Amino acid sequence: MSKGFFITFEGGEGAGKSTQIRRLAERLKALGHPVVLTREPGGSPGAEAIRDIVLNGPPERWSAVTETLLMYASRRDHIERVIRPALDAGKVVLCDRFADSTRAYQGAGGQVDTRLIDTLEATVLEGVHPDLTLILDLPVEEGLSRALSRGGGEDRFEAKGAAFHERLRQAFLEIARNEPDRCVVLRADRPPEDVEADIRAAVEPRLERVHG
Ligand SMILES: Nc1ncnc2c1ncn2[C@@H]1O[C@H](COP(=O)(O)OP(=O)(O)OP(=O)(O)O)[C@@H](O)[C@H]1O
Ligand SMILES: [Mg+2]
Repeated sequence: MSKGFFITFEGGEGAGKSTQIRRLAERLKALGHPVVLTREPGGSPGAEAIRDIVLNGPPERWSAVTETLLMYASRRDHIERVIRPALDAGKVVLCDRFADSTRAYQGAGGQVDTRLIDTLEATVLEGVHPDLTLILDLPVEEGLSRALSRGGGEDRFEAKGAAFHERLRQAFLEIARNEPDRCVVLRADRPPEDVEADIRAAVEPRLERVHG
């Protein structure tokens, strides 16, 4: 049993995950919580090396099944080396994307058999499941235009087209319907300050219950 608290941020491209996770990290540190801020794919040196090959190159570089296996290879390394040690040490771990992104991108988006993803979740995560998942939801076109306006060009997933992104938006909402205790859906088509206020309202009472 870990003593820490594990929060994941999920949602489509440009929803504001990275923006909001940084703000939450600062807030929780100011409240005196020991915080580890990390991301997927990546978060450990080995997992970051896998991130480079998964995100770069043409959209069809990897099949969706191969992507699933690469994502889980990177996730396993990240759990072993970063997430589990931090949770065992009682820290609050904030992770920008986690297993729900594989369900959405490779499962719903890439149409990978759910049974493969179920099996990987059950065997590879070894009980490391988020205590709370914040799903930032916004219309696909708005997210993609935000992600593009950020600069740096498109990555493999941003290049996949509107139908793909609509499937993954719906997949995140379905995950939230299936696991209402774990997941909170936030409308992300609002000023960052408003989204941040709702995130604090979701996180702080839950954290107080376990961390005091
Ligand atoms: N609430 C908001 N309203 C308008 N623009 C925003 C909002 N939140 C973030 N942005 C801007 O939109 C862009 C994407 O935000 P961010 O990088 O946080 O999204 P993300 O969900 O992490 O995207 P990705 O999935 O591509 O990593 C950035 O330029 C950011 O400044
Ligand atoms: Mg981001």
